[in-house]
Amino acid sequence: MIYVAAVLFFASAIGFILGLRMLRRPETARRGNMVSAFGMLCAVLGTLAETIAHGHFNTLAAVCVLGGLAIGAAIGFPAARFVKMTAMPEMVALFNGFGGIASLLIGWSQTQMAVAGAEQAGGMGPMLIKLTGGQPNVVTLATFFAILIGGVTFTGSLVAFGKLSERITTKPVLYPGQNIVNGLAVLVAVILGIWFAVAPDQIWLLYILIPLSFVLGVAVVIPIGGGDMPVVISLLNSYSGLAACAAGFAVNSPLLIIIGALVGASGLILTRIMCLAMNRSLSNVLFSGFGSASTSGGGGSGEKKEARILSPQDAYHVLEAAQSVIFVPGYGMAVAQAQHAVKQLADVLKANGCEVKHVIHPVAGRMPGHMNVLLAEANVEYEDLAVPEDVNPMMETIDVAIVIGANDVVNPAALTDKDSPIYGMPIIEVHRAKTVFTLKRSLRSGYAGIDNPLFYMENNAMVLGDAKKTVEALIAEFKSED
Ligand code: TAP
Repeated sequence: MIYVAAVLFFASAIGFILGLRMLRRPETARRGNMVSAFGMLCAVLGTLAETIAHGHFNTLAAVCVLGGLAIGAAIGFPAARFVKMTAMPEMVALFNGFGGIASLLIGWSQTQMAVAGAEQAGGMGPMLIKLTGGQPNVVTLATFFAILIGGVTFTGSLVAFGKLSERITTKPVLYPGQNIVNGLAVLVAVILGIWFAVAPDQIWLLYILIPLSFVLGVAVVIPIGGGDMPVVISLLNSYSGLAACAAGFAVNSPLLIIIGALVGASGLILTRIMCLAMNRSLSNVLFSGFGSASTSGGGGSGEKKEARILSPQDAYHVLEAAQSVIFVPGYGMAVAQAQHAVKQLADVLKANGCEVKHVIHPVAGRMPGHMNVLLAEANVEYEDLAVPEDVNPMMETIDVAIVIGANDVVNPAALTDKDSPIYGMPIIEVHRAKTVFTLKRSLRSGYAGIDNPLFYMENNAMVLGDAKKTVEALIAEFKSED
């Protein structure tokens, strides 16, 4: 049976590595997810086989492993199936939190096993040494990290979930000396960890560490604004991987170490990609309280500016004559679920002899790849997708740029206004196109909470209303002319 467990664990590790690799390309991503899920199934069954091989199999073990599998599937399948696309980051935040608490519980159970063993053997240290083949420090350090990082990930993810779903304030919660207080809390945690590593029998240290890790998770996420939550979630995802990796060392599970390291590394890479796309450092995201100053409303400089408002019927006449059109989707397209209508309008424009591209900004929407997923769902061809670097150099040649519920990612203040919080963020420079139609419901700001000078530019017209209804009205105009 031990060979069966080994084969299952090996298949699981391969499944996770291949699955992650397949997630790199939209064409293979769906299959990659299935392969990873298969890897997870192998891991659970491998654990069951290992329990049998070690002679620990009993009703309780079967109920725990198979019951856990059934309950997890019963919650996870409908949650993933029916979650709205716009609520996906919230769900990922919750799942990260569950990963964190699972690692904390593994670390905790490790110490409880040691305590139980010590009570039988008459001392704590020998049991830990027995558990680890004579390396108590590695195990105690790993246990410490699994508990600390797991606890931080758990409560940090719950706060991120609350902010994203607007159950708690999305504004940064700031107070004087906050970074010093948080820094001191981390220092105390490190001291506890070193102490525990050299004195593994001092289990009481963990009774301080666990609540401290929970408090720390809340404390490090509340000063971060809602707009930066996707970056935080990616970072917490990486933490959940590191916590699992530490738990793997604590219980001597190579599979947990491999999977934890994969999640930890990929989360860090994704965090870096997002920071680069916003031209901000990770420390700026974590410590600057970005989004605390509200600069929305009005025209930005205090003077009252007028935006040109067009009806879909008027916009149609310009589109009808256009030779090249780019669509720039943003979060509003997700809210309006306008992707299918956008694909239809693109087809209509192509049939009218127009060249069409969908330009996707890396942080458009609320999660990495948000726009790619929506456009793929609407069967937009991969070759019709473009990135800002492809289109920005030739923007002057574009007849019409249609902005579908995007705001921050087309805000020219990022290029011109040194005082703007998004200054330096690469944008899709639609303001240089011959004509811009901005489809949104109002002149309100986007997630960064800042005004957008694009709305008041001469070559821009606002086509106000729900993005899906506006796009459908444009399609109807084309059809009525046939
Ligand atoms: P936003 O700047 O958030 O703007 C979205 C706009 O959509 C809003 O201004 C809103 O205006 C409009 N909207 C909402 N519902 C609509 C509907 N039904 N129909 C039409 N319009 C609608 O979006 P963006 O340009 O995609 O930028 C993304 C933001 O998230 C950036 O600030 C980015 O830095 C941040 N962020 C994203 C990520 C990732 S990974 N995507 C990571 C970190 C940060 P109205 O209310 O007037 O309609």
